[in-house]
Amino acid sequence: MTGDAGHARQGTPFPFEGPVPPSLLIDRDRELELLARRAADRVNVRMVAPRRYGKTSVLLAHESVLRRTGWRTAHVDFSRVTDLTDAARRLAAGYGGLDVSWVRSHLQGLLARLGVSLSSSGPGLTLAPRPQSPDGAAAETVLHRMLDLPLTLWREDATPTLVVFDEFQDLLVARQDLDGLLRSKIQYHGDAAAYVYAGSEPSLMRELFETRERPFFAQADPIALDPLPLADALEELEARFRAESLDPGEALAELVAFAGGHPQRTMLFAYLLADRLADGAAGDARAAGEVVDAALKRTAPTHQALWQQLPRTERVVLGAVADGIAPSNEALAAEHQLARSTLNDAADRLTNQGHLVRAPRGGALVDPLLAEWLRRR
Ligand SMILES: Nc1ncnc2c1ncn2[C@@H]1O[C@H](COP(=O)(O)OP(=O)(O)OP(=O)(O)O)[C@@H](O)[C@H]1O
Ligand SMILES: [Mg+2]
Repeated sequence: MTGDAGHARQGTPFPFEGPVPPSLLIDRDRELELLARRAADRVNVRMVAPRRYGKTSVLLAHESVLRRTGWRTAHVDFSRVTDLTDAARRLAAGYGGLDVSWVRSHLQGLLARLGVSLSSSGPGLTLAPRPQSPDGAAAETVLHRMLDLPLTLWREDATPTLVVFDEFQDLLVARQDLDGLLRSKIQYHGDAAAYVYAGSEPSLMRELFETRERPFFAQADPIALDPLPLADALEELEARFRAESLDPGEALAELVAFAGGHPQRTMLFAYLLADRLADGAAGDARAAGEVVDAALKRTAPTHQALWQQLPRTERVVLGAVADGIAPSNEALAAEHQLARSTLNDAADRLTNQGHLVRAPRGGALVDPLLAEWLRRR
């Protein structure tokens, strides 16, 4: 790879959108090791981490590790599912590759009624647009039989299956009782399968796994995905710049510190810096500043949209925390004529929504760019 100036960086070593391939994953060795151990023990796990913290990337790497040791793997993406038909289609798309010939001989007709077709070449399924009138019965049957596929296959060849349910919390939006349906199947899978439930909505994930009345209560071991360790991120990224024959100078260290371990923000900064260096700029403080400006410009519409939908109290809290002030600060409460408990409650809600992390003395914004946007407002 070369850093030819001014052109789109095809195959950049600094991907900043969507899951990254395992070869470009920074750190996460400890998490991968733990995930492998839990799968081997058939202990189900849940991974709750903020948006763009690398959940999908880590789980894809986990899947590829297990495939190398002879497992089957399925990755089901439940993000923004709206109803039962949607859920069945997503499940079919994720499980279809487990055993295409089984799916073809057992479910082809039903799947067609959900707008899912089996591709004649290669493994896997194709999702056509949803049919006009949803077929609830077909969806329910597909859900049941797909969910049992790991067990069916295990009985045939004693090969275990790893199933990843990504954005699992969105299932609750599709139908309130779907977690019950899932659990009623999964609970008999024993050695046949290991499950990972990933999500980015702390409050919904807590409702699913920490509410006594819910079927998944205490059913999965939590695994955290912390910010990237700054030293590891810097070392790895420096090596990638060198491999591109680019000298990131002091700018990279400054940007990595600014990103505070937020994985996607770190990569976005690295990408934008590489772009400048390839155009002949020096890796100095000025370049770092320009990178932050450019990143803010890219992300401002998202910050603006969030800001507009936040109630006043939440705005007060976010703005204060961005400035390094604790949410329940006395002067802050007085200034806005709000009770400190009111501010505290707003901070809790922001934490539940994944915007804030609480710390004993105050807290911090999850997204360093949102914090900067707020400071410059
Ligand atoms: N360990 C990592 N090493 C390098 N980059 C990472 C890592 N984790 C995340 N990223 C960066 O974050 C981006 C998003 O990663 P990914 O899609 O896996 O996160 P996610 O938590 O699943 O996000 P979402 O909430 O949007 O589903 C990647 O494109 C990459 O830039
Ligand atoms: Mg994801």
